[in-house]
Amino acid sequence: MTANGELRSSQWFGATGRTGMAHRSWMRSQGFTPEVFDGRPVIGIATTWSELAPCNVHLQRVAESVKRGVWQEGGFPLEFPAMALGETLLRPTAMLYRNLLAMEAEELMRANPLDGVVLLSGCDKTTPGLLMAAASVDLPAVMVTGGPMLNGKYQGTDVGSGTAVWRFEEDLVAGRMTQEECVFAEGCMARSNGHCMTMGTASTMASMAEALGMQLPYSATWPAVDSRRYETAQRAGQVAVGLVRRDLRPSAIMTRAAFENAIRVNAAIGGSTNAVIHLLAIAGRLGVPLSLDDFDVLARDVPTLLNLQPNGQYLMEDFCYAGGLPAVMRELAGAGLLNAEAITVTAAGIGANVADAPCWNREVITTMAEPFQPAGTGTAVLHGNLAPAGAVLKQSASSPHLLKHRGRALVFDSPADYYAVSNDPELDVDEDTVLVIRYCGPRGYPGMPEVSNVALPRKLLLRGVRDMVRICDGRMSGTAYGTVVLHVAPEAAAGGPLALVRTGDWITLDVPDRTLTLEVSAEELAERQAAWTMPEPHASRGWTRLYCEHVLQADSGADLDFLVGASGHEVPRESH
Ligand code: FES
Repeated sequence: MTANGELRSSQWFGATGRTGMAHRSWMRSQGFTPEVFDGRPVIGIATTWSELAPCNVHLQRVAESVKRGVWQEGGFPLEFPAMALGETLLRPTAMLYRNLLAMEAEELMRANPLDGVVLLSGCDKTTPGLLMAAASVDLPAVMVTGGPMLNGKYQGTDVGSGTAVWRFEEDLVAGRMTQEECVFAEGCMARSNGHCMTMGTASTMASMAEALGMQLPYSATWPAVDSRRYETAQRAGQVAVGLVRRDLRPSAIMTRAAFENAIRVNAAIGGSTNAVIHLLAIAGRLGVPLSLDDFDVLARDVPTLLNLQPNGQYLMEDFCYAGGLPAVMRELAGAGLLNAEAITVTAAGIGANVADAPCWNREVITTMAEPFQPAGTGTAVLHGNLAPAGAVLKQSASSPHLLKHRGRALVFDSPADYYAVSNDPELDVDEDTVLVIRYCGPRGYPGMPEVSNVALPRKLLLRGVRDMVRICDGRMSGTAYGTVVLHVAPEAAAGGPLALVRTGDWITLDVPDRTLTLEVSAEELAERQAAWTMPEPHASRGWTRLYCEHVLQADSGADLDFLVGASGHEVPRESH
């Protein structure tokens, strides 16, 4: 809606004279009848479909279902492409482009004659990227994530995408699996359309979108190939038209209360640490006050209710059949851990949406009384002289015996440097060593890739060691596991203390105490700082240069400094 209560699309299609004719006539080249310009809500469908983003490849079909719903409710749907970010192919990391997707989608939504939008996402970065865009343009918006793949099946067992890859790699290195068996397992793991079906980042962010109130109940869990995924998409098309008529916008839905819900839900589902970065970035677009410490404080009372890989046993298909996210949120609501009044795209409060949600399998979705993992096992936020602005650790993916640990650092300036020697039987490393992998942050890599959980040295794998403490300024895949301190801020490339660690230094990790300490005196660190030089820039032009010059640190969501905040949807000037 515009400030005087009319649909903004009417400024284009309702205009008389030459400009109105231009706006309508060229659209009619697609075969639309003149009635579509009669003042009905125009709903954009932002799709991140691409054959280079395999998790999103079915979004074309999802878009057709959304269109049905928009037509059904008296709207006019128009699909448009937004940058598709495929996690598995993009180099150096899809995260380098999340902000570019957000910027592109924001500008497209604002510059075009749209009254509302439906956001079609799936693979990891596409969900936060589109939510950031919708927050900054603040047009009525509803999200439809593409849904998870069916459970992977290999040699009679369920295998989870991503999570199994780490295990297969370790088995290959340790000689428990052949290369031929690995190739066969690839096809068994990804056997349908959809995003990763573990509780990795895609499933986590789909759940976050639902917990924030930005997608319809149960949307996060319907498998990509389930007919109810398409039914929900059609419903979302109808809902989008209703949101325009109510002028219910993302800024009214994604409030502080909604973010608190999302943080608690993330703890309850054992979600990815990437949710921390993405939620901070989305909140930054809306001016919602949210800090890194909120993730620790709000989640401390929340047990892990979901028994899903990588923390547990089951996969997203099982989660769906067990009752989906509403069943988890109902448990939280019953314990007073859900802001029930937070409004959602249904125009009802989230508490009302989940009040009667049934659970059909308590093996998969446990109760608050008998949780899968006790409260306090979620994401811990650490501080100390090694991470003055904070770092995070996923306790449920860590080994309990390593949560209090003191060891000597073995330092590498890149994952490649580490992998160059990780198979060396003479490598000076044991299970108490703390592996430090640095220059993997937003500026350092660039783009803050998911490289922090480097595979263990071969020497230790052959001895049966399955975990050791690793510290990094990068991220970790939501499908991964291990005792890995992530998102260290400030990063090494920004001159953070991580850049000053030397092999042989003692490091103490104390998760119960929430501290990460480099046992080097302040005087010595000051001397090392004075001798440190900033690395050469990665690029002299283009997006990478813009990104590196403006990206914020992990504790601020790694958005670009000039993209924080919102510009709304007003564009008063005509194009001709
Ligand atoms: Fe796309 Fe995992 S690679 S969701």
